[in-house]
Amino acid sequence: AKYTWVEKDTCIACGACGATAPDIYDYDDEGLAEVIFENDGNRGVTAIPEDMFEDLQDACDGCPTDSIKIADSPFNKEG
Ligand code: F3S
Repeated sequence: AKYTWVEKDTCIACGACGATAPDIYDYDDEGLAEVIFENDGNRGVTAIPEDMFEDLQDACDGCPTDSIKIADSPFNKEG
């Protein structure tokens, strides 16, 4: 499985990730990205299914500030 989390401290609200992978990323009130897949709440604890790996990788590759993190185990962030 793969897990993803957005480092909001470095996100510049460019908007690329939500356009690339709208089922995984959306934006908060400030336009900063967060993981919304299955109500993850940007905690990085929701397993992303394999059929979404391409979108996941494309979003990661497209982020200008490398704020999209991907790992093989849960991040367990607070959101
Ligand atoms: Fe932010 Fe990168 Fe998405 S800058 S809006 S996390 S593409």
